[in-house]
Amino acid sequence: MTEYKIALVGFGGVNRGLAQLIATSNARWQATLGFSLKIVGVTDLFLGSVVDRDGLDAAALAALPAEKGALAQIAGGTAEAFNETVIKQSGADIIAEATFTNPVDGEPAATFCRWALESGIHVVTTNKGPIALHGAELKALARQHNVAFEYEGAVMSGTPVIRLAKQALAGSQIQGFEGILNGTSNYVLTRMKAGMAFADAVAEAQQLGYAEADPTADVEGYDVRLKVVILANELLDARLTVSDVTCSGISGISAADIVKAQATGQCWKLIGAASKAADGSVAASVEARLLPLEHPLAGINGAVNAVSFNTGLLGAVTVSGPGAGRIETAYALLSDIIALHTTDRR
Ligand code: HSE
Repeated sequence: MTEYKIALVGFGGVNRGLAQLIATSNARWQATLGFSLKIVGVTDLFLGSVVDRDGLDAAALAALPAEKGALAQIAGGTAEAFNETVIKQSGADIIAEATFTNPVDGEPAATFCRWALESGIHVVTTNKGPIALHGAELKALARQHNVAFEYEGAVMSGTPVIRLAKQALAGSQIQGFEGILNGTSNYVLTRMKAGMAFADAVAEAQQLGYAEADPTADVEGYDVRLKVVILANELLDARLTVSDVTCSGISGISAADIVKAQATGQCWKLIGAASKAADGSVAASVEARLLPLEHPLAGINGAVNAVSFNTGLLGAVTVSGPGAGRIETAYALLSDIIALHTTDRR
């Protein structure tokens, strides 16, 4: 039986969700997955940090109040976030990195990943920033140190996309994809179809916890652009950077545009897409598109995400499911740990 020692870096909704899953499901994982998890450290810029090599109480962590310095309430804890100590010196086998996404330089998450990988510690992360902006470097670092670097939750949270395409669809000749990759913007478009004003729909998406800290990233397509870079580089062997992807959002779509689309049997969707040409070059875009109602993505409503892979052997293969949410994204971390367990290099 394997017991992985895990340190949680960033203790917002996602890693709290993982702590909750550990508190409720560890015994089941032992029986069904062949491993259990012991939390040996937590660090968070707002909450502080704590290390206990004998294991922290996952249920108590999941119930920790979201107050500044709250980790000081736990025995041995401090109000300061000693990130480097928790990552390098907690004795962790795995770092679960779930800090905020910085779309400009991917920091500080990218540094947290580097510290762990260079120390021979596996990394699982849901953070789009380090993957979209430093993916090749971090993957090389993981290979060099013979550890896993897994990031299924960076796109569509716990809904399988990256491993589905790379493993289950390996050999299917993926030539491109189209996706609804942002729950907030799809939610807004869905609510506008029901007559709600754009600003009210954005506010509702924020209240429901779908939106980024700054919802501009959701409605202007910047969040989708990071996800398109990740998927194009992973699935189409592209080497895209953010500036290679043309990008516009949904803020220019009016209530009148929505009504007109409905009257003509179409609907507006924010689509992130990429396709590979015969010469191997990859073109990628994020834009609002008018879809006919028979399109595989036209019926995807609310905060649901979906991606339709264009494959040479199967035609369109479409997967849909949650693209955000606390437990949904924590599940992505679990799926990453399952993946590294089945191929554990040590
Ligand atoms: N703000 C994002 C969304 C969260 O609405 O889809 C997941 O990346």
